[in-house]
Amino acid sequence: MTKRILSGMQPTGNLHLGNYLGALKNWVKMQDEAECYYCVVDLHAMTIPQDPEKLRLSVRETAAAYIASGIDVNKSTLFPQSAVSAHTELNWILATMTPLGWLNRMTQFKEKSAKNRDHELLGLYAYPVLMAADILVYQATHVPVGEDQKQHLELARDLAGAFNRAYNREYFTLPEPMIIGEATRVMSLRDGTKKMSKSDESDYSRINLTDDADTIALKFRKAKTDAEPLPETLAELEKRPEADNLVTIYAALSDKTRQDILSAHAGAQFSGFKKDLTELAVAKLAPIADTLRRLMGDVAEIDRMLAKGAEKANAVTQKHLREVKDIVGLWRA
Ligand code: TYM
Repeated sequence: MTKRILSGMQPTGNLHLGNYLGALKNWVKMQDEAECYYCVVDLHAMTIPQDPEKLRLSVRETAAAYIASGIDVNKSTLFPQSAVSAHTELNWILATMTPLGWLNRMTQFKEKSAKNRDHELLGLYAYPVLMAADILVYQATHVPVGEDQKQHLELARDLAGAFNRAYNREYFTLPEPMIIGEATRVMSLRDGTKKMSKSDESDYSRINLTDDADTIALKFRKAKTDAEPLPETLAELEKRPEADNLVTIYAALSDKTRQDILSAHAGAQFSGFKKDLTELAVAKLAPIADTLRRLMGDVAEIDRMLAKGAEKANAVTQKHLREVKDIVGLWRA
């Protein structure tokens, strides 16, 4: 069976190092071994209020960030989620089969709605069902994501299984999560127990893909650490979340293991280690930021690439949607 990959990110002007190391970097690698579909999930972004013009611009910026990070539109299909209507149609069909109990278990909904009681919306609650539709409508075999998406992927597998059982056939492929690499969960630079996130109030908590060299240096310099030098073994990192996070970032950026990094830097003070880390991060991220800026200079070209991707995605998904409609007894033109 050919490998078919689907993944997506919410549109935001500044993707951060967590998005890059946890997901994007792995997406780029998959391009030569699988049929890849990468979308910008603007429908998911609507679960919190958005300014219409800013949302459209953010979709372009996010697509540009994918390309700047190495997604090649001649190898992968790149498109905005809302340009491919089969996602929302399958979403409804899956919603009719989703027990509320399954959604009640989702920790991300609990966290997000707890943060903002005014936004306990149906869309936010049903968010994981749309995500399942995103994946299943391609019959994706693998989904490369960071660790925080694991529970959503389990729901997608459960829904695929529920559909297959309800209609008594092995129609949907059960997608495998691909949570790989050293940095499946990059933590905040200010608090090693919190995930690096675009919604963190402090910009010092994250490195954005668009940060310039001085900003990256400043953020690493200010990053929280402890007083001890770097240890020799992974076991000694266990109760040192901030130290662990910087070692993890170093490892992922240099395509090495955390143990490799400890072996090379054991006994070093953080001041020196942070300087090396800054140099490494600037070398990896500056070309991405430069390309991103250049791409945003020609928005019409980005729109053309997205339109071409959407056309391909529509062709594949319409075929699957027709099959699903046949199975469940819906009308199709
Ligand atoms: P989103 O937009 O929050 O994040 C995009 C990707 O980045 C990963 N990620 C991280 N990885 C490591 N460390 C971090 N601190 C970190 N922060 C984010 C996420 O795991 C994700 O892979 N629900 C999804 C978007 C989505 C999707 C899909 C993904 C919608 N439909 C279908 C896969 C397949 C989300 O909000 O990701």
